[in-house]
Amino acid sequence: MDGNPAPAIPSSAGASVNRPLPREYFFDSEIYQREKKNIFARTWRYVAHQNELAGPGDYMTLKIADESIIVLRGRDNQLRAFYNVCQHRAAELLQGCGNIKGFITCPYHSWSYDHTGCLRSATNADSVPGFDKSGYGLTSVRLEVWCGFVFVNLDKDAQPLAEQAFELEALIRQYCPEVETLKPAARQDYTVKSNWKALVDNFVESYHLALSGPAHKAFTDLVDCRNFEVTPHAGGPYSYLWSSHHAPAGPKNNKAYRYADERLMGGNNDFLSIHLFPDIGFVFFPGADALVAFVTAPDGPETTAEIFAYFTRDGATDEDTQKGVHYFSYVLGIEDNDLVERVQRGLRSAGYRGGALMIDQAKSGRSEHAVARFHEQIRDLVG
Ligand code: FES
Ligand SMILES: [Fe+2]
Repeated sequence: MDGNPAPAIPSSAGASVNRPLPREYFFDSEIYQREKKNIFARTWRYVAHQNELAGPGDYMTLKIADESIIVLRGRDNQLRAFYNVCQHRAAELLQGCGNIKGFITCPYHSWSYDHTGCLRSATNADSVPGFDKSGYGLTSVRLEVWCGFVFVNLDKDAQPLAEQAFELEALIRQYCPEVETLKPAARQDYTVKSNWKALVDNFVESYHLALSGPAHKAFTDLVDCRNFEVTPHAGGPYSYLWSSHHAPAGPKNNKAYRYADERLMGGNNDFLSIHLFPDIGFVFFPGADALVAFVTAPDGPETTAEIFAYFTRDGATDEDTQKGVHYFSYVLGIEDNDLVERVQRGLRSAGYRGGALMIDQAKSGRSEHAVARFHEQIRDLVG
């Protein structure tokens, strides 16, 4: 498939209207394969908060660009990541998540690896001339703990996330100085019938907030949307690495959920959502002492595994926070998923002629300039 130059169509005044990505980018399986190779196998991918793997032996497995990866906390308390494959004859080693007390033992011929990935035992190895256990350790994957969150990257040469996103780190620490010690408090998982980018598009524009369903209208009472600021940022090798979406809080007695006390976390009550390329968001919302990790991980060209993971200072949620969690996961989130699935169905229509991104000159809170930057980055990486 040919590359797609940044498309623009003339307006009546002779300027150009920015076009979104062509609709094929949201369902074409060949484009999806290129995304896996050029984006998901090369960028820092969110795994969990480090306190979700708190004890020695705690592990989880996850899929990244068709690869199964193990993330494991060793007996030395270090987090490490490995390809989830035995070096004997390639059996997958672990599934799901849990705790490994002793060695990682392959279910096929019981080769055993320690928590650092070294092969410790292989039956009959002493009788095999030339066999050297030191050459058969697990294959490591790069892992970084950034702001208390665990990220992995299949690209051995990737620039550290801490270097790419140092300005973002300062912003997150401003809103949550205790980010490293947060504990998991609540989580909801959804399967959304859309391409992952349709969810990101929806996450990085505020144009729809006052214009779609009742939960969204309530949002414009929860936060002061007249003063919404949407700011895209470059970082590392990326012309678009992250965007911030900020608005002051509205009244405590608002139409989304009433709360008694302002948020304690970070000393301010503002709304802030952050999108970090490619598929992770962080959200702070008024009255709720929680940080939300919002994941929109692809699971096929038209399927997204969406996670709302809430973290609080002690793993508990007070009454105000519970109201916020309920509103975001079960009211606003559901409304958003319905909107995004409608978009996905519409993108399949030959009657859709390519659309427009509504970018105003002031780059106002309802302008779709962050969507444009995200799409430009996709075009750059995928072609
Ligand atoms: S494939 Fe793992 S021990 Fe044989
Ligand atoms: Fe929304």
